[in-house]
Amino acid sequence: MLIFNKKSDLSAFLSPLINQNKSIGFVPTMGALHEGHLSLLEKSLIENDITVMSIFVNPTQFNNAEDLEKYPRTLEKDVEKMSFVSQKIIVYAPSVSDIYEGNTISESFEYDGLEHQMEGQHRPGHFDGVGTIVKRLFEIIKPNKAYFGEKDFQQLQIVRKLVSKHKLPVDIIGCSIFREKSGLAMSSRNERLSPEARKKAALIFEILTKAKEIFQNESITETIHFVEKSFKKHPEFELEYFEIADEETLLSTETKDTTKKYRGFIAVFIEKIRLIDNISLN
Ligand code: PAF
Repeated sequence: MLIFNKKSDLSAFLSPLINQNKSIGFVPTMGALHEGHLSLLEKSLIENDITVMSIFVNPTQFNNAEDLEKYPRTLEKDVEKMSFVSQKIIVYAPSVSDIYEGNTISESFEYDGLEHQMEGQHRPGHFDGVGTIVKRLFEIIKPNKAYFGEKDFQQLQIVRKLVSKHKLPVDIIGCSIFREKSGLAMSSRNERLSPEARKKAALIFEILTKAKEIFQNESITETIHFVEKSFKKHPEFELEYFEIADEETLLSTETKDTTKKYRGFIAVFIEKIRLIDNISLN
């Protein structure tokens, strides 16, 4: 497996392949790979001539220094996991200076308001950091297709908006959430949970699934009330938000419009670890 740490080396490797019209699939990650990431790789390997995976814990998208410091960094293990999927994957694992060249700050982006909802409200500056890194990686790798998981559904919509606003020549492919057997959405952050908390965290998807059932016959307010009430019964969880929002605009709403698609979005803490998840409601 080829591993590049410098964008100049990666570009020099990819450029002749791009000139030969080879298609490039790209899976951006922050490492600590789980089966969800590997499923994106598998999809890319099927759909493209070349697959590049980046592993980079991007400092500008963290609004909490402790979260950045504690984010798992497991490059060796990650490479081993990837090698079981395919030896043909190209890995780009840059340093902060290779990406930011001594100026570790975000550019500022406008995503037609998508950035002001949910994660944007609770993690100021997060989506500027995501936009900065994703745009830079697209410029370096020049992928034809890029793969993003729906667990970060708001991020997926924001990346789509970034691509359309900046007319970037890449197709964004959204991929369904991968879940542990218990239903817990796969996330690198799950690694930081104690075994007990990891078990208990299955409750998040249980409550979301029940909320989906309730949404079919009850009002949005009733559905939200059910979720809030359910978490109050479990003080080991601290619910940050549960919102029902239009999938396109991400605007939360209290009235149902049958022509629209809605999702329930949640952020919840357990053992001070922040987990997010979402579910399609109709
Ligand atoms: O979803 C992630 O892991 C990150 O936000 C991404 C897209 C790799 C950018 O750092």
